[in-house]
Amino acid sequence: MSLNTMRLDRFISEHCQINRKGVRLILAQKRVFVDGILARDVAQIVDKFSVIEMDHKILQANQAHYIMLNKPIGVVCATKDDKHNTVMDLLTSQYEKKIINSLHIVGRLDLNTSGLVLLTNDSRWSERLTSPEHKVEKCYQVTLAKPLTQDYINAFAQGMYFPYEDIITQAAKLRILTPLQAEVILTEGRYHQIKRMFGRFRNQVVKLHRQSIGQLTLDASLMQGNSRNLTAEEVNNITSFL
Ligand code: URA
Repeated sequence: MSLNTMRLDRFISEHCQINRKGVRLILAQKRVFVDGILARDVAQIVDKFSVIEMDHKILQANQAHYIMLNKPIGVVCATKDDKHNTVMDLLTSQYEKKIINSLHIVGRLDLNTSGLVLLTNDSRWSERLTSPEHKVEKCYQVTLAKPLTQDYINAFAQGMYFPYEDIITQAAKLRILTPLQAEVILTEGRYHQIKRMFGRFRNQVVKLHRQSIGQLTLDASLMQGNSRNLTAEEVNNITSFL
Protein backbone atom coordinates (compact mmCIF):
# COMPACT_ATOMS: atom_id res chain seq x y z
CA MET A 1 0.00 0.00 0.00
CA SER A 2 1.29 3.47 -0.84
CA LEU A 3 2.35 5.89 1.90
CA ASN A 4 -0.55 8.11 0.92
CA THR A 5 -3.27 5.52 1.39
CA MET A 6 -4.52 3.39 4.27
CA ARG A 7 -7.32 0.99 5.18
CA LEU A 8 -10.49 2.59 6.47
CA ASP A 9 -10.39 0.61 9.74
CA ARG A 10 -6.87 1.87 10.45
CA PHE A 11 -7.89 5.46 9.69
CA ILE A 12 -10.89 5.34 12.06
CA SER A 13 -8.98 3.41 14.68
CA GLU A 14 -6.13 5.98 14.74
CA HIS A 15 -8.38 8.99 14.37
CA CYS A 16 -10.94 8.04 17.03
CA GLN A 17 -8.76 5.85 19.28
CA ILE A 18 -11.08 2.85 18.81
CA ASN A 19 -9.76 -0.68 18.42
CA ARG A 20 -10.25 -2.53 15.13
CA LYS A 21 -13.00 -4.74 16.56
CA GLY A 22 -14.88 -1.59 17.61
CA VAL A 23 -14.45 -0.17 14.11
CA ARG A 24 -15.94 -3.33 12.58
CA LEU A 25 -18.99 -2.90 14.80
CA ILE A 26 -19.37 0.78 13.84
CA LEU A 27 -19.29 -0.13 10.16
CA ALA A 28 -21.83 -2.90 10.70
CA GLN A 29 -24.07 -0.31 12.36
CA LYS A 30 -23.90 1.72 9.09
CA ARG A 31 -22.44 4.81 10.78
CA VAL A 32 -19.59 5.56 8.36
CA PHE A 33 -19.69 7.20 4.92
CA VAL A 34 -16.75 7.67 2.55
CA ASP A 35 -17.25 10.29 -0.17
CA GLY A 36 -20.96 10.21 0.60
CA ILE A 37 -21.28 6.44 0.16
CA LEU A 38 -22.06 4.06 3.02
CA ALA A 39 -18.87 2.20 3.97
CA ARG A 40 -19.29 -1.54 4.47
CA ASP A 41 -15.75 -2.86 4.03
CA VAL A 42 -13.17 -2.34 6.80
CA ALA A 43 -10.43 -2.93 4.24
CA GLN A 44 -11.63 -0.12 1.95
CA ILE A 45 -8.67 2.04 0.95
CA VAL A 46 -8.88 5.75 1.71
CA ASP A 47 -6.49 8.59 1.01
CA LYS A 48 -5.99 12.11 2.31
CA PHE A 49 -8.66 13.47 -0.03
CA SER A 50 -11.38 10.94 0.93
CA VAL A 51 -14.22 12.68 2.75
CA ILE A 52 -14.85 10.49 5.79
CA GLU A 53 -17.92 10.93 7.99
CA MET A 54 -18.93 9.08 11.13
CA ASP A 55 -22.24 9.67 12.88
CA HIS A 56 -22.80 12.65 10.53
CA LYS A 57 -19.57 14.32 11.74
CA ILE A 58 -16.74 14.97 9.28
CA LEU A 59 -13.57 13.16 10.36
CA GLN A 60 -11.59 14.25 7.30
CA ALA A 61 -12.27 16.57 4.35
CA ASN A 62 -9.10 17.83 2.69
CA GLN A 63 -9.33 19.63 -0.59
CA ALA A 64 -6.91 18.75 -3.38
CA HIS A 65 -5.28 21.70 -5.16
CA TYR A 66 -3.84 21.67 -8.67
CA ILE A 67 -2.31 24.92 -9.92
CA MET A 68 -0.75 26.09 -13.19
CA LEU A 69 1.80 28.91 -12.84
CA ASN A 70 3.58 30.94 -15.51
CA LYS A 71 7.05 31.21 -13.97
CA PRO A 72 9.09 34.26 -14.93
CA ILE A 73 12.87 34.22 -15.30
CA GLY A 74 14.62 35.01 -11.99
CA VAL A 75 12.14 33.18 -9.77
CA VAL A 76 13.37 30.02 -8.11
CA CYS A 77 11.46 26.71 -8.03
CA ALA A 78 11.82 26.15 -4.30
CA THR A 79 9.77 26.69 -1.17
CA LYS A 80 12.32 29.07 0.40
CA ASP A 81 15.29 31.01 -0.89
CA ASP A 82 17.47 33.71 0.67
CA LYS A 83 18.29 35.54 -2.56
CA HIS A 84 15.39 35.18 -4.96
CA ASN A 85 11.62 35.19 -5.02
CA THR A 86 10.22 31.67 -5.08
CA VAL A 87 7.26 30.29 -7.02
CA MET A 88 5.48 30.08 -3.64
CA ASP A 89 5.93 33.86 -3.19
CA LEU A 90 4.10 34.37 -6.50
CA LEU A 91 1.03 32.57 -5.17
CA THR A 92 0.50 34.76 -2.12
CA SER A 93 -1.87 37.22 -3.83
CA GLN A 94 -4.17 34.42 -5.01
CA TYR A 95 -4.04 31.66 -2.39
CA GLU A 96 -4.25 31.40 1.39
CA LYS A 97 -1.03 30.73 3.27
CA LYS A 98 -2.39 27.41 4.53
CA ILE A 99 -2.92 26.21 0.96
CA ILE A 100 0.48 27.46 -0.24
CA ASN A 101 2.22 25.67 2.65
CA SER A 102 0.59 22.39 1.62
CA LEU A 103 1.86 22.55 -1.99
CA HIS A 104 4.84 20.98 -3.69
CA ILE A 105 6.33 21.63 -7.14
CA VAL A 106 5.81 19.05 -9.89
CA GLY A 107 9.06 19.11 -11.89
CA ARG A 108 11.25 22.15 -11.34
CA LEU A 109 12.55 24.70 -13.82
CA ASP A 110 15.92 26.44 -13.53
CA LEU A 111 16.16 30.01 -12.25
CA ASN A 112 16.59 31.41 -15.77
CA THR A 113 13.90 29.24 -17.41
CA SER A 114 10.35 30.57 -17.77
CA GLY A 115 7.01 28.88 -18.36
CA LEU A 116 4.70 26.19 -17.11
CA VAL A 117 5.11 25.00 -13.52
CA LEU A 118 2.54 22.78 -11.81
CA LEU A 119 1.95 22.78 -8.06
CA THR A 120 -0.24 20.46 -6.02
CA ASN A 121 -0.82 18.94 -2.60
CA ASP A 122 -1.76 15.60 -4.23
CA SER A 123 1.44 13.56 -4.21
CA ARG A 124 -0.19 10.58 -5.91
CA TRP A 125 -1.00 12.80 -8.91
CA SER A 126 2.48 14.35 -9.01
CA GLU A 127 4.18 10.96 -8.63
CA ARG A 128 2.30 9.66 -11.67
CA LEU A 129 3.31 12.71 -13.69
CA THR A 130 6.99 12.57 -12.76
CA SER A 131 7.50 8.81 -12.65
CA PRO A 132 10.28 7.93 -15.17
CA GLU A 133 8.31 4.93 -16.44
CA HIS A 134 5.43 7.15 -17.60
CA LYS A 135 7.66 9.25 -19.86
CA VAL A 136 5.39 12.30 -19.81
CA GLU A 137 6.42 14.70 -22.59
CA LYS A 138 7.59 18.18 -21.60
CA CYS A 139 7.78 20.66 -24.46
CA TYR A 140 10.28 23.55 -24.40
CA GLN A 141 10.92 26.49 -26.69
CA VAL A 142 14.62 27.18 -26.96
CA THR A 143 16.51 30.17 -28.36
CA LEU A 144 20.17 29.61 -29.13
CA ALA A 145 23.28 31.72 -29.58
CA LYS A 146 24.40 29.99 -32.79
CA PRO A 147 22.47 28.58 -35.78
CA LEU A 148 21.11 25.05 -35.55
CA THR A 149 21.91 22.30 -38.04
CA GLN A 150 20.19 19.03 -38.93
CA ASP A 151 22.89 17.15 -36.90
CA TYR A 152 21.20 18.25 -33.70
CA ILE A 153 18.02 16.32 -34.55
CA ASN A 154 19.82 12.95 -34.67
CA ALA A 155 21.97 13.66 -31.64
CA PHE A 156 18.92 14.52 -29.53
CA ALA A 157 17.00 11.48 -30.81
CA GLN A 158 19.88 9.08 -30.17
CA GLY A 159 20.47 10.28 -26.62
CA MET A 160 23.64 11.68 -25.09
CA TYR A 161 25.93 10.19 -22.48
CA PHE A 162 25.95 12.22 -19.24
CA PRO A 163 29.09 11.06 -17.38
CA TYR A 164 28.14 12.59 -14.04
CA GLU A 165 24.94 10.53 -13.79
CA ASP A 166 26.39 7.73 -15.96
CA ILE A 167 23.25 7.61 -18.08
CA ILE A 168 22.25 8.02 -21.71
CA THR A 169 19.45 10.52 -22.08
CA GLN A 170 16.10 9.26 -23.36
CA ALA A 171 15.30 9.93 -27.01
CA ALA A 172 14.38 13.61 -27.28
CA LYS A 173 12.58 15.27 -30.19
CA LEU A 174 14.06 18.43 -31.65
CA ARG A 175 12.24 20.50 -34.26
CA ILE A 176 14.04 23.42 -35.87
CA LEU A 177 11.70 26.43 -36.02
CA THR A 178 14.09 29.13 -37.23
CA PRO A 179 17.91 29.11 -37.49
CA LEU A 180 18.15 30.16 -33.82
CA GLN A 181 14.97 28.61 -32.40
CA ALA A 182 13.92 25.05 -31.70
CA GLU A 183 11.19 23.11 -29.96
CA VAL A 184 12.51 20.31 -27.77
CA ILE A 185 10.42 17.53 -26.25
CA LEU A 186 11.90 15.65 -23.29
CA THR A 187 10.43 12.71 -21.40
CA GLU A 188 12.69 13.14 -18.38
CA GLY A 189 14.17 16.01 -16.38
CA ARG A 190 17.90 15.74 -15.76
CA TYR A 191 19.77 18.61 -14.13
CA HIS A 192 20.14 21.47 -16.68
CA GLN A 193 19.33 18.86 -19.33
CA ILE A 194 18.55 21.08 -22.31
CA LYS A 195 21.49 23.42 -21.67
CA ARG A 196 23.84 20.46 -21.35
CA MET A 197 22.53 18.86 -24.55
CA PHE A 198 23.06 22.03 -26.59
CA GLY A 199 26.37 22.47 -24.77
CA ARG A 200 27.62 19.38 -26.64
CA PHE A 201 27.47 21.52 -29.76
CA ARG A 202 29.09 24.44 -27.92
CA ASN A 203 25.85 26.28 -28.50
CA GLN A 204 24.57 28.38 -25.61
CA VAL A 205 20.90 28.44 -24.69
CA VAL A 206 19.96 32.09 -24.40
CA LYS A 207 16.24 31.59 -23.66
CA LEU A 208 14.34 28.57 -22.40
CA HIS A 209 10.58 28.38 -21.89
CA ARG A 210 8.42 25.37 -20.94
CA GLN A 211 5.24 25.38 -22.99
CA SER A 212 3.52 22.15 -21.97
CA ILE A 213 3.55 19.08 -19.76
CA GLY A 214 1.73 16.11 -21.30
CA GLN A 215 -1.67 17.28 -22.55
CA LEU A 216 -1.52 20.52 -20.60
CA THR A 217 -0.38 23.70 -22.36
CA LEU A 218 0.36 26.97 -20.59
CA ASP A 219 -2.50 29.44 -21.21
CA ALA A 220 -1.42 32.13 -23.66
CA SER A 221 -3.46 34.60 -21.58
CA LEU A 222 -1.79 33.74 -18.26
CA MET A 223 0.58 36.63 -17.55
CA GLN A 224 4.07 35.88 -16.23
CA GLY A 225 3.93 35.42 -12.46
CA ASN A 226 0.21 34.56 -12.52
CA SER A 227 -1.43 31.26 -11.73
CA ARG A 228 -4.80 29.56 -11.91
CA ASN A 229 -6.45 26.38 -10.67
CA LEU A 230 -6.61 23.51 -13.15
CA THR A 231 -10.10 22.36 -14.08
CA ALA A 232 -11.20 18.86 -13.00
CA GLU A 233 -10.99 17.85 -16.66
CA GLU A 234 -7.38 19.04 -16.95
CA VAL A 235 -6.42 17.24 -13.72
CA ASN A 236 -7.87 13.97 -15.01
CA ASN A 237 -6.79 14.30 -18.66
CA ILE A 238 -3.12 14.77 -17.88
CA THR A 239 -2.89 11.43 -16.06
CA SER A 240 -5.66 9.56 -17.90
CA PHE A 241 -3.41 7.47 -20.11
CA LEU A 242 -0.50 6.92 -17.72
N1 URA B 1 16.50 21.92 -19.16
C1 URA B 1 17.24 22.91 -18.62
O1 URA B 1 18.42 23.06 -18.93
N2 URA B 1 16.64 23.75 -17.74
C2 URA B 1 15.34 23.67 -17.39
O2 URA B 1 14.84 24.47 -16.60
C3 URA B 1 14.58 22.63 -17.97
C4 URA B 1 15.17 21.77 -18.85
